[in-house]
Amino acid sequence: MTSAFQTFELERIMSDWEQVVEYNLSESGAHPVKVRELIAHDPGMLDRMLETELGYGYANGSPELREAIAQYYPGATAENVLVTIGCIEANFITFQTLLQDGGEVAVQVPCYLQSWGLAHNLGAVRRTFSLDPDRGWALDTDSLEAAVSDDTRLISICNPNNPTGQILTESEMDAVVRVAEQSGAYLLSDEIYAGSEREREEVSPSFYGRYERVIAAGSMSKSFGMPGLRIGWLVGPEDLIRQLWMRHEYLTLSTAKLSNHFLAPLALRPDVRKAIFERTRGYIRRGWENYQNWIGDNADILSLVPPQATAVSFVRYNLKTDSATLANRLIQEKSVLIGPGDYFGVPNHLRISYGLPPEYLNEGLRRIAGLLRQVAGEEAAGSENERGAAAG
Ligand SMILES: Cc1ncc(COP(=O)(O)O)c(C=O)c1O
Repeated sequence: MTSAFQTFELERIMSDWEQVVEYNLSESGAHPVKVRELIAHDPGMLDRMLETELGYGYANGSPELREAIAQYYPGATAENVLVTIGCIEANFITFQTLLQDGGEVAVQVPCYLQSWGLAHNLGAVRRTFSLDPDRGWALDTDSLEAAVSDDTRLISICNPNNPTGQILTESEMDAVVRVAEQSGAYLLSDEIYAGSEREREEVSPSFYGRYERVIAAGSMSKSFGMPGLRIGWLVGPEDLIRQLWMRHEYLTLSTAKLSNHFLAPLALRPDVRKAIFERTRGYIRRGWENYQNWIGDNADILSLVPPQATAVSFVRYNLKTDSATLANRLIQEKSVLIGPGDYFGVPNHLRISYGLPPEYLNEGLRRIAGLLRQVAGEEAAGSENERGAAAG
């Protein structure tokens, strides 16, 4: 019998507060694109959209959209693709399909803990493998080997990683494939942040095509800056894609027609995708300059392994207060939202977005530093009082 339902704590705090606070530094994607900006790449599209009947679209994704997705995965065709409502559905139906009667899953930590909660709620046996903070969040291959056995059905990884922003090296990717191959487990690779590279120009490579049981998940939400389209996808072996589609039929049936037939295929057109990724990287690279200075100014409290991709950073802080308490005080006292490290499986860290317009970012950071300094003062005064009491 499964124990109590596990809440998705990160999404809970975001659902409650992201529309309420003055400064939302919890968002992990690039600052959102306007419809006008996207449509400018095909001005005739607006008219075609206005003439469209709002019936159901293709349940598994329009052929045009599935082809547009497949072109970015070596060896894939439209038959290898299922279009879902965001990557959240993509991950959900993969877990549900492969772990519906339990089984073992190996989950990467830190990560977006959807995988962790899903595994628990399906009654699966969870094992974890880690990224090592003391080696710049490099993959701990020993922990991966220890977490995977012949009984493992699924290995769940996120690359580039949310929340650390690290990108696996080629040899780390080889190690993951080797371990997956040895056990015969499926490898679900959440690649939603590919395209948001901060330093390098090439888009982070997919696991797809490196092993026959890879399922690559992606979406328009992060590197494309279009979460409002609610379009995600899975690319995998054809037989598994059909099984995943059967779950999709129960859950969401199909995605929104205007996204599925018009806006997502346009965003995936090679020249448009290139322009959008440049826009995303522009936000990330400009934001990084300010952000780095802010970390430097607060180096007595904060330290950071610079993220290689994503619009977020996973900052370590050296205070005693736990990260969920800090996040709640930031909401209540400063009207700022960030992601507490505890909600990614790692204490004493905060996930803070930096891919934001400069004035907004700077004011949010100023408020965060204000609270951290206040808490540092309170903790120091508390220790002083304890020492006084002990001496008295
Ligand atoms: C790693 C990861 N996967 C999936 C999602 C869900 O994204 P979507 O908006 O595509 O459903 C998120 C959102 O934050 C994420 O960070």
